[in-house]
Amino acid sequence: MGSHPRKSGFKIIFAVTIFLIIIDNFSATALDVSGDELLETMVETAENQLSHSSTNLGIYELGDMEDNAWQMVERKGIQFVVNNQPFYINGFNTYWLMVFAVDQSTRGKVSEVFQQASSVGLTVCRTWAFNDGQWRALQKSPSVYDEDVFKALDFVVSEAKKYKIRLILSLTNNWDAYGGKAQYVKWGKAAGLNLTSDDDFFSHPTLRSYYKAHVKTVLNRVNTFTNVTYKDDPTIFAWELMNEPRCVSDPSGDKLQAWIQEMAVYVKSIDPKHLVEIGLEGFYGPSTLNRVQFNPNTYAQQVGTDFIRNHQVLGVDFASIHIYADSWVSQTISDAHIQFINSWMQAHIDDAENILGMPVVFAEFGVSTKDPGYNSSFRDTLISTVYKNLLNSTKKGGSGGGSLLWQLFPDGTDYMDDGYAVVLSESPSTSNIISLHSTRLTIFNSKCSWRSHWGCKKKNALETFLYHDDL
Ligand SMILES: *[C@@H]1O[C@H](CO)[C@@H](O)[C@H](O)[C@H]1NC(C)=O
Ligand SMILES: *[C@@H]1O[C@H](CO)[C@@H](O)[C@H](O)[C@H]1NC(C)=O
Ligand SMILES: *[C@@H]1O[C@H](CO)[C@@H](O)[C@H](O)[C@H]1NC(C)=O
Ligand SMILES: *[C@@H]1O[C@H](CO)[C@@H](O)[C@H](O)[C@H]1NC(C)=O
Repeated sequence: MGSHPRKSGFKIIFAVTIFLIIIDNFSATALDVSGDELLETMVETAENQLSHSSTNLGIYELGDMEDNAWQMVERKGIQFVVNNQPFYINGFNTYWLMVFAVDQSTRGKVSEVFQQASSVGLTVCRTWAFNDGQWRALQKSPSVYDEDVFKALDFVVSEAKKYKIRLILSLTNNWDAYGGKAQYVKWGKAAGLNLTSDDDFFSHPTLRSYYKAHVKTVLNRVNTFTNVTYKDDPTIFAWELMNEPRCVSDPSGDKLQAWIQEMAVYVKSIDPKHLVEIGLEGFYGPSTLNRVQFNPNTYAQQVGTDFIRNHQVLGVDFASIHIYADSWVSQTISDAHIQFINSWMQAHIDDAENILGMPVVFAEFGVSTKDPGYNSSFRDTLISTVYKNLLNSTKKGGSGGGSLLWQLFPDGTDYMDDGYAVVLSESPSTSNIISLHSTRLTIFNSKCSWRSHWGCKKKNALETFLYHDDL
């Protein structure tokens, strides 16, 4: 019966989808004949889907199809692929899912945020698979785990699948929240190691071995809800080595580079099936001084990270970067934020395409309601700007692999809000923007396939209709 709400959810998504397409395009300029045919085709498709799912036989058939379709996401060249079809991502972050899932009184919020996300077509969620030594720690001390918290993570993974959402699981933090590298250093000191900086996390052999043990434990975990081992679970889209690694103690970047090299290969040695990304913010560094002009400020090239060099490491499958004009450029909202986003995204998409030969995911982007000059229409403009830059790449089959909004919250969790939370039920215009972008990506993903290179079914001029002008 768990599947019943999903089915009706799907119907609603489809209906909303059709509605949005119609609204969006009727309000635009002249609609030509192929547009009318297209709408007819789409309505027909939708009707077929709906009538199918209302019979028992239909449900069985759909169920089988769904299971067959639930394959690992892979990388082919500069694109993500699943079942031989492109997988361009519209996704989101909700970092605290595991902690909320521990307690029965808050566990329902996990299902709620997945349900709301799937209602606007979001397909990937990035969340924490760590909580090192803090309140409700997953890892209480090196290699000592709280089984209740691990079961909570199992629940998150199992619930994500119910709503057809894949997960990017991050394995530790650069920052103090939820433990991170500072906690590893505390553990090391408690064990008698001579440690002088939190960046010793990257270089001290014992701390490296602590981190590797955590990686090994999580990847080999057998989910107590599904019996599927994490490393075999297609619900997991990718592993992230660390949230926003920086190593300011070594601006040359060598120390962090060595850590990435060791850990990316280590993850792959345990789990060759899943994709791996680093978790960087994306600053250009010493290896590409001709690109540092794209950084938001001059400090950014001194934090020990190096976008191009870091991503050329064996075992890293795709680039992942963040976009925070308000914390990097100026806190006060201005047009400069939009200009920065455009150039930051274009530079990284170009480099991913031409130098790295991999997809790039904009794994965090958003704006804080606490910023001076903030209003909700600016937030909508910012989100649309990110989506437009991505569509520009998607429609060419480019390396702009997707974006993950920071961050999506269900109702009634305001006390966790850092200013960036988007609550869909309170933001109808934002919901529409997200939903429309999902629809566009879904149509592209379903109409195109990878053989020797991308071919899109052009029968009904769908792509022309959706992608040909500046939307
Ligand atoms: C601890 O390490 C620092 C820096 O590597 C070094 O200068 C210091 O002598 C060491 N202290 C001891 C007690 O080994
Ligand atoms: C998981 O495995 C156990 C023990 O073999 C079994 O009892 C249980 O039904 C399985 N659960 C699922 C969801 O497959
Ligand atoms: C929202 O903020 C932007 C940027 O500060 C400003 O240009 C715009 O006029 C504001 N809109 C409203 C409706 O206040
Ligand atoms: C889309 O890409 C073209 C060239 O590839 C570029 O000229 C244009 O500015 C881009 N538009 C947006 C909105 O990024």
